[in-house]
Amino acid sequence: MLEQLNQIEGEALAALEGIAGDERLEGWRVATLGRSSPLMQVFDQLGQMPKEERPAVGRRANEVKRALEAALAERADALRQATLLRALQAEQLDVTLPGRPGARGRLHPATQTLRQIYRIFGEMGFQIYRSREVETDEYNFQLLNFPPNHPAREMQDSYYIDTGTDRGENPVLLRTHTSPGQIRAMREYSAANPDNPPPVRIILPGMCYRYEQISARYEIQFTQVEGLAVGEHITFGDLKGTMSDFARRLFGQQVRTRFRASHFPFTEPSAEADFECFLCGGEGCPVCKYTGWLEILGCGMVHPVVLSNGGYDPRRYTGYAFGIGAERLTMLRHRIEDIRYFWGNDLRFLEQF
Ligand code: DAH
Repeated sequence: MLEQLNQIEGEALAALEGIAGDERLEGWRVATLGRSSPLMQVFDQLGQMPKEERPAVGRRANEVKRALEAALAERADALRQATLLRALQAEQLDVTLPGRPGARGRLHPATQTLRQIYRIFGEMGFQIYRSREVETDEYNFQLLNFPPNHPAREMQDSYYIDTGTDRGENPVLLRTHTSPGQIRAMREYSAANPDNPPPVRIILPGMCYRYEQISARYEIQFTQVEGLAVGEHITFGDLKGTMSDFARRLFGQQVRTRFRASHFPFTEPSAEADFECFLCGGEGCPVCKYTGWLEILGCGMVHPVVLSNGGYDPRRYTGYAFGIGAERLTMLRHRIEDIRYFWGNDLRFLEQF
């Protein structure tokens, strides 16, 4: 019996040596220490053994059991260590590898143009004035000299907001242009000192909304930058000088500017300013449609009625105003042929800028 126990121990330990995986370890445990293993059968047979042999065999059987259990624990531990070591080596971090560049966001092309406009007018002494996007008919039209039923309103089909009450001739709407900010700004400035309102040098950027038939040239939302300068002795010459300087700062020192008579209800006289085509230098090309000129902005001298609506006495004060379409300008600069790209949120477009 003792001989058999030695053999059980020797074979089990030898088998254990060769085991490399957790499942096979469990198999070994069942075969070696399980209920019906040879070792356990020795325990079962102890009762039928001659009395004098029992203590020695029992002691030895217990020794073998403990030895095998200890060997099993040791082997399991060694296997765990080996697995851990392998994982550590496989997942080793090579800090000398070059990093992967992170995906960086960028500014929307219209925002890039806006910032350039802010910089230029900022250098000229203009401040940014933020005005609301939800307006009343009074500010969006009437105070700017568009009375109800004025034909010039037709160019600015509007989104009216249902406020649940009949507001008569003063409905609420999404602003169709940034010009109502002129009145809000002048009223704020003049309220502080009604007898001597301070000079105004501001640009008013922001989103405008019109009920348009959407096409490559027209969108229902777009960005404008309004400009307003009010003070004593401001002339049309100041307007021309400022617009020409803006053209040169934007497109280059050699760029010429021309002014064509136009009409806006809130300016008198009114003009549209064309900048010489930055691409062909006036020679004629597809961007300027072979005219050599690009229509960039509307402008004019602030109408006396608008001045007084803002709290500025037109007998003492004069001023000029202008309005620039930011998307249109961006389209010209980057030769973008469809305005719908701007707010369509297609990354294939946006990531080009
Ligand atoms: N508000 C005009 C529009 O949206 C643009 C404009 C033209 C603004 C002339 C001005 C201006 O301030 O003087 O069509």
